[in-house]
Amino acid sequence: MVISNTPIRVAVTGAAGNIGYSLVFRIAAGEVFGPDQPVALNLIEIPQGMEKLQGVVMELQDSAFPLLKDIVATDDLNTGFKDANWALLVGSVPRKDGMERKDLLGINGKIFTGQGRAIAANAAKNVRVLVVGNPCNTNALIALRHATGIPEDRFFAMTRLDENRAKAQLAAKAGVHVSEVKNVTIFGNHSSTQFPDFYNAQIKGKPLSDFITDEAWLQGEFIETVQKRGAAIIKARGSSSAASAANAAVETVRLLAHRSPADEWFSVGVVSTGEYGTTPGLVTGLPIRSTGRGTWRVVEGLSIPEFARAKIDASIKELTEERDTAAEALGAKL
Ligand code: NAD
Ligand code: LMR
Repeated sequence: MVISNTPIRVAVTGAAGNIGYSLVFRIAAGEVFGPDQPVALNLIEIPQGMEKLQGVVMELQDSAFPLLKDIVATDDLNTGFKDANWALLVGSVPRKDGMERKDLLGINGKIFTGQGRAIAANAAKNVRVLVVGNPCNTNALIALRHATGIPEDRFFAMTRLDENRAKAQLAAKAGVHVSEVKNVTIFGNHSSTQFPDFYNAQIKGKPLSDFITDEAWLQGEFIETVQKRGAAIIKARGSSSAASAANAAVETVRLLAHRSPADEWFSVGVVSTGEYGTTPGLVTGLPIRSTGRGTWRVVEGLSIPEFARAKIDASIKELTEERDTAAEALGAKL
């Protein structure tokens, strides 16, 4: 990433919400673009959220962040996405206990049509978009289909939280520190059908199978724990993950903005072109390496055994159904 004196302008929707309350302070502190890169924040809320947002603005001012050069707080999408280099689409309704994320499609899906259009009309030419609001893969698809003129490889859906959850479970099982677990891909949807790929993961630079031989645990309890972690947090906290979600958003943008090490990759939802037998056109979790110059590529050549194949196919089937449901509800071709 090249450091510039011109601030990187980051638009954050739902900035007064639970994730927003953690996320915007971490961006302002320099945790995303580094300790030398000035930033500006465009904070976007719905009218009912504006009073609370004023409180967030006051706290940002009171933090006296040296890198934070400008704050815009608005409920107008055109103002909010004006000149944004990054748009982090968080604002939407979270699920409650007992719901699946796709149950939110009817409430949240339509948010991303207007936001996609407003990003296309107002954002900086180099804009990148990360969708966090659920169901994030399909919401990202809705946003990109309405953002006429912006290349679709600029849109991302967040699967990094699942990746971090998977790494934490694998580290505990192997008895190593979480930082020693690398290259865990979340294939498919950010949902309870996702496939956290343990086959190609590495621990201390070696194949995971050198450390974890309990295949039954990997194929059963491990996958299920990661798939259902969001629901477990909702049950325990009474509301969905927020600080860990903000952390994953910070890491996703940082990873996309910087060059990936040659032997490492990370997980993010991107528009598939059919990699690993996924369906072209769907926003799908895949293994990604960033060039650090605004482009990225899918890591090729990972082994996909039969067990993994079936899991990935099931998640792609769900993504296809979500796309079709959203297209019908919105009366749009997705
Ligand atoms: P929250 O309810 O605490 O905050 C959401 C905020 O968004 C509120 O302040 C609300 O006023 C605002 N908002 C609603 N509609 C908006 C719109 N159209 N434009 C701008 N702002 C709008 O919720 P939260 O805990 O911050 O979660 C936000 C979303 O993130 C939810 O959909 C949740 O399911 C999702 N999420 C995704 C992941 C992931 O890994 N992808 C992780 C955690 C949460
Ligand atoms: C998560 O994974 O924590 C979020 O997607 C919130 C949820 O609904 O589970």
